[in-house]
Amino acid sequence: MPRTASHPSAGTAPAPSFEALLQRPDLAWMGQNTTHLDPPPEVVRALIDSTMQREFQFYAPALGFKELRELIVADLGLAGSTAMITDGAVGGLHHVCTALAPGLSRLITTDPGWPWPGRFVELEGVPVTAVEVYSAETGYKLSAAALAEVIEPAALLYLIDPLNPLGSSYDSGELEAIVEVARAHGAIIVHDCTYRHFADGHTLVAELYPEATLTTYSFSKWLGLAGLRLGAVVGRPELLGRLTATPSNPLGANIQAQRAAIAGLKVKDPWLHRLRQINRRNQQIVTEAVQHSSLGHVLVDPSQGNFLAIDVGGQHWTADGVCAELLERDVFIRSGTYQSPAFGERFVKVSTSVPTLWAERFAAAWAELWPAGQRDEGGQS
Ligand SMILES: Cc1ncc(COP(=O)(O)O)c(C=O)c1O
Repeated sequence: MPRTASHPSAGTAPAPSFEALLQRPDLAWMGQNTTHLDPPPEVVRALIDSTMQREFQFYAPALGFKELRELIVADLGLAGSTAMITDGAVGGLHHVCTALAPGLSRLITTDPGWPWPGRFVELEGVPVTAVEVYSAETGYKLSAAALAEVIEPAALLYLIDPLNPLGSSYDSGELEAIVEVARAHGAIIVHDCTYRHFADGHTLVAELYPEATLTTYSFSKWLGLAGLRLGAVVGRPELLGRLTATPSNPLGANIQAQRAAIAGLKVKDPWLHRLRQINRRNQQIVTEAVQHSSLGHVLVDPSQGNFLAIDVGGQHWTADGVCAELLERDVFIRSGTYQSPAFGERFVKVSTSVPTLWAERFAAAWAELWPAGQRDEGGQS
């Protein structure tokens, strides 16, 4: 029986003040999986052009610009599906959760995971089951067998892949087995593909289970547009129609962001080539720093996302304590407590699609705090 928690939002630490952090110009921003490289010039140009043409004075189409919607479907390779543009992936997830909630018996997700969809359905009175996946034995991800133990008719599976915060991802065989269980119970799958573009290979659940899968898409991570708030939900027209009938933002998502996203999708290949190279290099720097220190180990290596989860358990450190020490050295990383009621005090997450200088600053701070030497395997504070 997989260990599960029924209240994934319980016991989480308060978020740091991002407003205060934004006042710190020298901060290495490695806590939110955002991308901080020089953006493609085409994207900046599109933002400037849109501003100069005063497009911000207009509303955008309710479901987003047709060109953008088509480019997203083409990027995913999901012919026969359509996209609705949303205010970030999270805006799409909120809409999915609230629009479908009346017909749901339960939302199933993982711990660790990303807490917001669980909270959204809980507000609508839908219970949440978080299957615990913090285990090397299960590859730090959900297995079909574990899903089978908790699934029920009219459930919704919220599957994050690659999994923020651990960095694991699902191969096509694993997804086929998960889909078989979901199909047998008539469950809808929301496949959160926010980190797909960083993965070495990636299969879409929608290819295996098109009739009951909604795919969520983000521009915050791979294109680095987090502050512009742009994402999408993609699905077959029959299923997506349940969401588009009453869009959550009928006045349309940020018009300038849509122009930037169109420009980004047109230069996607060279951009991703560069981004992924830098991400991998930074992951090596972070991993080596941890290996050569007296604290922690990277859980999933290579991570399929733009982040690494580092277990710091078994010693006299809590995740919050580790983050506080790094923040004093101007390196912002995130405590696991944000994303895991059950295991959050045992790990921290470090984002890696950032300037390599920042990864080196992380490495220097970690080495200074926990120099190589004997590991203290004593109790947890
Ligand atoms: C798994 C997951 N889904 C969705 C989001 C939100 O993405 P967006 O910035 O597009 O709203 C995040 C952001 O961290 C995330 O980690």
